[in-house]
Amino acid sequence: MSNNPLLTWCFLSFILALTLFFFFIQRKKTKFYLPPGKMGWPFIGETIGFLKPYSATTMGEFMENHIARYGTIYKSNLFGEPAIVSADAEFNKFILQNDGKLFEVSYPRSIGGILGKWSMLVLVGDMHRDMRNISLNFMSHVRLKTHFLKDMENHTLLVLSSWKNNCTFSVQSEAKKFTFNLMAKQIMSLDPWNLETEELKKEYVSFMKGVVSAPLNLPGTAYRKALKSRNSILKFIERKMEERMKRMQEGKKGLEENDLLNWVLKHSNLSTEQILDLILSLLFAGHETSSVAISLAIYFLPGCPQAMQQLREEHREIARCKKKAGVVELTWDDYKKMEFTHCVVNETLRLGNIVRFLHRKAIKDVWYKGYDIPCGWKVLPVISAVHLNPSNFDQPQHFNPWRWQCNSKNGNCGNTNSSNFMSFGGGPRLCAGSELAKLEMAVFIHHIILNYNWELVDVVDQPIAYPFVEFPKGLQIRVQTLAQAQAQAQSVI
Ligand code: HEM
Ligand SMILES: *[C@@H]1O[C@H](CO)[C@@H](O)[C@H](O)[C@H]1NC(C)=O
Ligand SMILES: *[C@@H]1O[C@H](CO)[C@@H](O)[C@H](O)[C@H]1NC(C)=O
Ligand SMILES: *[C@@H]1O[C@H](CO)[C@@H](O)[C@H](O)[C@H]1NC(C)=O
Ligand SMILES: *[C@@H]1O[C@H](CO)[C@@H](O)[C@H](O)[C@H]1NC(C)=O
Ligand SMILES: *[C@@H]1O[C@H](CO)[C@@H](O)[C@H](O)[C@H]1NC(C)=O
Ligand SMILES: *[C@@H]1O[C@H](CO)[C@@H](O)[C@H](O)[C@H]1NC(C)=O
Repeated sequence: MSNNPLLTWCFLSFILALTLFFFFIQRKKTKFYLPPGKMGWPFIGETIGFLKPYSATTMGEFMENHIARYGTIYKSNLFGEPAIVSADAEFNKFILQNDGKLFEVSYPRSIGGILGKWSMLVLVGDMHRDMRNISLNFMSHVRLKTHFLKDMENHTLLVLSSWKNNCTFSVQSEAKKFTFNLMAKQIMSLDPWNLETEELKKEYVSFMKGVVSAPLNLPGTAYRKALKSRNSILKFIERKMEERMKRMQEGKKGLEENDLLNWVLKHSNLSTEQILDLILSLLFAGHETSSVAISLAIYFLPGCPQAMQQLREEHREIARCKKKAGVVELTWDDYKKMEFTHCVVNETLRLGNIVRFLHRKAIKDVWYKGYDIPCGWKVLPVISAVHLNPSNFDQPQHFNPWRWQCNSKNGNCGNTNSSNFMSFGGGPRLCAGSELAKLEMAVFIHHIILNYNWELVDVVDQPIAYPFVEFPKGLQIRVQTLAQAQAQAQSVI
């Protein structure tokens, strides 16, 4: 080669530097500091344990054992993929806030198969933004005040009017009637007494069974039946759409000016397929979750007579004021006055945990609190485990609405920090219907607490996380009418 010692030296040091460089790169690549945990069996990993049903007011044996052994951030193998599970409040917030930047939604493929590829739950990027914008406009504050509130009260009273003194029934199905009728009215102007509404409701029952079942597309399975129901529901919506377009072309203005279907037909550029998936998903998201929320409130309250009493006083006071002013219908101001009710709503959602965990994946290599989260891994923020951890909420098993009063004057708030409360998710995908769901709960509570006392018929009729939350026996209650309030309700109907 060269006999210039300087050149040789340069060459050698260059080689050395290169070697060291590759050595460190290599080292950095292989040396992931993954969270602790075990991967379980090949392919199925620990999925079966993770999905095993348990009491909805607990975080479940699987979570408890794993947190005890590995801490609040651990690795596992779930839904056929390597996964990081987080029960850590800070990390969950970090994941949700960085949606689209470091993480992305990643629901199992079966969810897209059944809710549709244009469902908001599986969309990302611009398409998600546009669909979300439509949903937010549909459920905006203004519309809640001007459209939803009146209808909600109407539909609540319609359901309650069948509750006779001393009768026993399933609250879960009554609440579902209420939320379904409300959404069907707001989305497509369907009336509850129409036969077609009943038909659609039936299809949604079998659809729901498929959403939560194993995604086996074989004859006879719940999933196969649900795909069939999906087609019937889509046909139904498409028929409604065609009717509307025909009427629009003929220049007739219907009464339905203000529902979602008319709005998307007039103001959006969505294709037929996109509109169908949007409407199917909103009708689904809008009744399955909030009906469980209402059932949970009715389940928790009898266990805490003091809360029941304070709640009733709050609503009686509102009713008194309305009577004095001669106003019958509930107004937005009345809703704002329901301070303790808001505490009961938050506490119900915290303890009941309707949505227990979310599906995300890392779209970059992420480093967090000393751990590496490799790009492509599944990331599951478990909201329920944060809500039920004593380091986030004092005595987490305890239904204690007063813990939420620290936001106002001088409540007994323990260590409640509402930034650890994430029942509706967070970040750019925060539940679009959160305000709607809370309003529904408050209106329903207003009328039931003024008109009825109730008791749980069966002590073992408890909410179970499958992991979607449900009362296996439908939450049977027996009601007693409160005579004095009855007259008031009648005057509204
Ligand atoms: C108490 C009842 C409810 C709970 C606990 C709840 C919970 C949630 C959660 C946790 C998410 C986030 C999903 C994720 O980040 O992957 C979500 C999203 C969503 N929810 Fe709700 N929800 C409720 C009621 C409703 C209602 C009444 C509607 C009305 C249609 C609704 C519509 C939606 C929509 C459209 C999204 C998708 C938002 C997006 O991706 O941008 N939800 N919900
Ligand atoms: C969202 O909807 C509003 C009202 O229709 C519209 O003015 C706004 O431009 C939309 N934003 C996006 C990002 O599409
Ligand atoms: C409430 O329901 C009654 C029928 O029970 C109906 O006549 C009335 O128009 C409804 N009001 C609203 C605001 O929807
Ligand atoms: C209410 O129902 C229960 C059981 O169904 C019955 O034992 C009781 O006598 C009934 N009370 C009244 C006042 O009808
Ligand atoms: C709809 O599409 C047309 C052209 O394709 C575009 O000019 C218009 O801005 C779009 N409108 C919306 C609301 O996206
Ligand atoms: C209920 O939780 C929300 C956070 O989702 C919080 O903003 C609100 O202040 C809470 N309500 C009360 C009464 O503490
Ligand atoms: C609540 O938690 C957030 C971060 O998680 C923190 O910034 C805030 O100071 C806490 N608030 C209280 C009152 O402790």
